[in-house]
Amino acid sequence: MQDILEELERRRRRARLGGGERRIAAQHARGKLTARERIELLLDPGSFEEVDMFVEHRCTDFGMADQRIPGDGVVTGQGTINGRPVFVFSQDFTVFGGSLSEAHAEKICKIMDRAMRVGAPVIGLNDSGGARIQEGVASLAGYAEVFQRNVLASGVVPQISVVMGPCAGGAVYSPAMTDFIFMVRDTSYMFVTGPDVVRTVTNEVVTHEELGGADTHTRRSGVADLAFDNDVQALHEVRRFFDFLPLNNREEPPVRPTFDDPFREEPSLDTLVPADPSKPYDMMEVILKVVDEGDFFELQKDYAKNIIIGFGRIEGRTVGIVANQPMVLAGCLDIASSVKAARFVRFCDCFNIPIVTFVDVPGFLPGTAQEHGGIIKHGAKLLFAYAEATVPKVTVITRKAYGGAYDVMSSKHLRGDVNYAWPTAEIAVMGPKGAVEIIFRDEKDDPEKIARREREYRERFANPFVAARRGFVDDIVMPHGTRRRIVQSLRWLRRKRVDNPWKKHSNIPL
Ligand code: HXC
Repeated sequence: MQDILEELERRRRRARLGGGERRIAAQHARGKLTARERIELLLDPGSFEEVDMFVEHRCTDFGMADQRIPGDGVVTGQGTINGRPVFVFSQDFTVFGGSLSEAHAEKICKIMDRAMRVGAPVIGLNDSGGARIQEGVASLAGYAEVFQRNVLASGVVPQISVVMGPCAGGAVYSPAMTDFIFMVRDTSYMFVTGPDVVRTVTNEVVTHEELGGADTHTRRSGVADLAFDNDVQALHEVRRFFDFLPLNNREEPPVRPTFDDPFREEPSLDTLVPADPSKPYDMMEVILKVVDEGDFFELQKDYAKNIIIGFGRIEGRTVGIVANQPMVLAGCLDIASSVKAARFVRFCDCFNIPIVTFVDVPGFLPGTAQEHGGIIKHGAKLLFAYAEATVPKVTVITRKAYGGAYDVMSSKHLRGDVNYAWPTAEIAVMGPKGAVEIIFRDEKDDPEKIARREREYRERFANPFVAARRGFVDDIVMPHGTRRRIVQSLRWLRRKRVDNPWKKHSNIPL
């Protein structure tokens, strides 16, 4: 017995050492933690239960029979984050560059299957050279097995990817199919084809960082949600983020005790919207003053900044916030902001998270770049997502709600449950200037007449009363009381049950 125990301990020590001291030192020298160190930071202390520590690859080609490292380049198992269960895989770059073999893929699949069985989220810490080159098609098959599970798990359990090293080739498609991607600056990158192939095929000379670094994906492509400065910060923020999410699609989001008065008033909001409708103001101020304790987890904050998305809490319960940002492009909807918000709305709807929408939108961004880029199809995504969503939807129009964008932004007509307007709201087909230029075109050479027409139009339509008369807004609320009104709405909406007609799935304009 003693022999076995010693042998077990020896084998565990061997497995924990991964690719060995030298490679661990190289990992640290790059500013990266090892797979196990990352798990320790991510999970509650002592909560990690590892599985498949002794799994090895089965490859015998290219001298691989002599190179077997227990665990085969990925550490998998389950643990807790603030007491709530989660399944984790963490690729170990010190073992064959974290490359994915058949056995490595099987380990990931096993914990994904377990997560699905019990309804708990999956967090993947990615740090891998991609398909294990020595294994050929067996490795590709392994990827596809993971992809298939990503898809089946989508909308059932939240899936989070933290890219903490290389992630290239087809390997990028597993994170791409998860709900959220976080990256680490300077040490992580994601691309379908690397700089060398790019140079050969297109003659473009580009660095890893420029092609697929954290800044590229959080600012230009929108592929990743957030970038962090180092592993420690990334894992710490993932823990904070995790607390906003329900465990699966049958559960409500977690409730966290809060000391914030649900009926707290914010008098400063009464003077936030400038008298001049062309002047911007910061919508973030509204969000921070409405959510519990000003705690807002913003996603994609450096991408499509004309719309804000993220999670906050109201009375301790998670809400998804979508808000036009008048500080950027006057809060217009364009391709990038529509896609950004649409995916977020769909996530909230999958996971029973109520959506609070703050509206100040002058319309869709005009121009050939937008039309040729397909704003029709991409704008439709947001419209579709809101219309399809059956979670509680509370909307507050703070200022402009013009044209099609009024309809899109969780309007009453898309089954908005509660739609409020501030007294400063202007709900119309378009702004007074544009409207008068069209309907009084023959008076265009008379500036006095035009100014009068604009005044008339503003008095008639640039207010919330026309919509309120029709019941398209439920009430006109004072900005200082916004939090109270949202609290009260979400309280009665907790009992909301709405089903869409039966179908296999809808056909969102992709
Ligand atoms: C096997 C790999 C490997 C791989 C790295 N290693 N990638 N082993 N298969 N894909 C091994 C190296 O041989 C090395 O072993 C160790 O990992 C560390 O790699 P280095 O090259 O020394 O590290 P670094 O200089 O940091 O470069 C990292 C890297 C580079 C950029 C990821 O290793 C690289 O380009 N690897 C190949 C990437 C690739 O082409 N993958 C296939 C992509 S196609 P030793 O023993 O020396 O420590 C793909 C398709 C997926 O993934 C399709 C899914 C549908």
